[in-house]
Parts: sequence; structure tokens; C-alpha cells
Amino acid sequence: MLPNLLSAIETELQRQVARLDEPRTRPFHEMLAYHMGWTGEGAGPEATGKRVRPLLVLLTAASCGADWRPALPAAAAVELVHNFSLLHDDIEDNSDKRRGRTTVWKKWGLAQGINAGDGMFILANLALADLEADYPAPIVIRAATILQHACLDLTRGQFLDISYEDRADLAVDDYWPMVGGKTAALIAACCQLGALLGGADAARQEAYRAFGHYLGLAFQVQDDILGIWGDEALTGKSAAGDLVEGKKSLPVLFGLEKNGEFAKRWQRGPIRAEEVRAAAALLEAESARRSAQEAARQMTDLALESLRVANPQGEAGEALKSLADQLLQRGA
Ligand code: IPE
Ligand code: IPE
Ligand code: MG
Ligand code: MG
Repeated sequence: MLPNLLSAIETELQRQVARLDEPRTRPFHEMLAYHMGWTGEGAGPEATGKRVRPLLVLLTAASCGADWRPALPAAAAVELVHNFSLLHDDIEDNSDKRRGRTTVWKKWGLAQGINAGDGMFILANLALADLEADYPAPIVIRAATILQHACLDLTRGQFLDISYEDRADLAVDDYWPMVGGKTAALIAACCQLGALLGGADAARQEAYRAFGHYLGLAFQVQDDILGIWGDEALTGKSAAGDLVEGKKSLPVLFGLEKNGEFAKRWQRGPIRAEEVRAAAALLEAESARRSAQEAARQMTDLALESLRVANPQGEAGEALKSLADQLLQRGA
């Protein structure tokens, strides 16, 4: 089932991004096509990312017993929102690598990086409007509202993430609202959108949404762990970035709460690139990695419990469960 879905998603995404493919602005289209992993050096499956969010939309709709094909514009919309957020996030985080390749803003400059993100965001909204061909207008408006709320939450989460970089007074409890916004809001919206388009009632939509929310939290904790101890060849992102940028990732917050050697070093000022390995070793010795893994496990359990309540059906239901398992084990 997944290969069919993935190829339909890619075709739909290319159709949506092609709105920018005009002779005078062809290099603009090229920036987006490059970011999506379709063109330039290293293009191909590794460069496109996992396409988790559109898969969640389609599998959720199908696991409610509906045909997934009419939901393709919504699947494209959430992936375009995700990629818009990555284009801007790489600027905000000063990241030079994404999916193993040079980031758009490093390649074409800051101003064009911002504009490429803006273009991607508008394409997402236009993609969603294409649902009109197959669904009644009230459903399309509801879908747009769900997506826009997720976007607003995403910017709130990014605000917290960035503002936390300079704060020394944070605890583990401050972590959840930040990742609930920057990561879980969109993943929750994907599952809710799939359930809405799949014809689920309000209670079942809510259960799918809760599944996406906890899946998103677990996913970000996992990403934080990989951001310190991950293999750059697998993540496609720099393993030094989070510590050097002063990110309050979950292992860091556990380390700060411990108030031991890691916290002492952190309080002395920014970690330099050459110190990253030593700082990661301190965190590990002070159990921060284990505590973060335990938190990921708790969120995973909550996700699976919500999925049980949502009661996904058929082959898509099975695929949804194995996708969740796979995401929560990636490269750890
Ligand atoms: C990366 O998301 C950003 C986070 C929310 C952790 P993904 O890991 O889904 O990114 P791609 O699209 O597969 O590259
Ligand atoms: C993830 O941000 C969420 C968004 C991009 C909105 P991060 O900064 O934590 O993710 P990576 O590590 O750059 O993918
Ligand atoms: Mg970020
Ligand atoms: Mg980032």
C-alpha cells in the first residue's frame, strides 16, 4: 500500500509546485523543486524526506473506510506546510544542511530563502482549496480552519523554541508547549484532516487527532535525541547544531535539571563546536539521554492508546500502526 501512496503523493506535490513553473521565474521554481528533493545534486528519495505527514492524512482517511485518492490535495497541503516550515526553520536555526544537502538559504541567500518559504506556504493553501472538486464546501472550510490553526500553533512553537535559546530559567515542563506547537500541531492536524475527509464523526476525529498529537511529541523527542547522538549520515542534519545553537531540547532540559557538571558547563556560555562531543558525554553520564528516551516511550504509549480508541480499520489501519512503530524507532 505505501509505495502506491508515496508515488501518488509525489505526483500531486509536483502538480501543486508546478504553479510556480513559469519562464521568467523558473529559478524560483527550481529553489522549491530543489528543496523538495526533486532536482540538483543528490536529488532522489533520500533528499525528499519521509513524507510522513501526507501518509498520515491518506492512511487515516482510508482507515476510516474511505477512498484516499480524493484526499490527495490535503496530503500535498500538509507536506507543503511542513516544507515551508523547514525552509524558514533552517534560517532561524542557522542550519546549513537539510536531508543531507545544502539548505536553500545557504545556496541562494537569506532573502531568497525567506521568499521560497513564503511561496511554499501559499502553495499549501492553494492545494487545500483543490479539495473543492470532491468535497462539499463546509468540509473544505473546516479542513482549511484545521490547517490554519496548526500553522498558527507552529509559529507559536517556533517562537518558544527561539526565545528559549537565551533563557536560563527553563525546566522540563516548559518543553511540552514548545514541541506541542512546533511539531505536534501539524501532525495532529494531519490525522484530524484524514479523519474529517474519511467521514469520521467528531469523537473519532478527536481520537485520531490525539494520536497525531502524542505521535508528534514522541517524534520530536526522538528528533532531539538524534540531534545530539544521531548519525549525521542517517539524519541528514548536523549533529552539532542543537547544542551549539543553545536549543532547549529535552535532553538538555533534563541535564539542566540535574544541576551537575553539564549544567555548570552550560551556564558558563555557548558550547563551541569542538566541545560538542564532551558535552554530549556529560549529558549521557547524567542520565539525560535515558530520561528523554523514557519520555518518548510515555508519549508513544499515549499515542498508541489514542489510536486504539480511533479504531482504524483494514489494511490502512495496519499500515498506520506500522508507520507509527517505524517513526518511533528511526535511527535510534
Ligand atoms: C523534521 O521532520 C522536523 C521535525 C519536526 C522534527 P521530519 O523528520 O518529518 O522531516 P523530513 O520531511 O522527513 O525530512
Ligand atoms: C522542527 O524544528 C519543527 C519545525 C521545523 C517547525 P527543529 O528545528 O527542531 O527540527 P530540525 O532538527 O531542524 O529538523
Ligand atoms: Mg528549529
Ligand atoms: Mg531546525
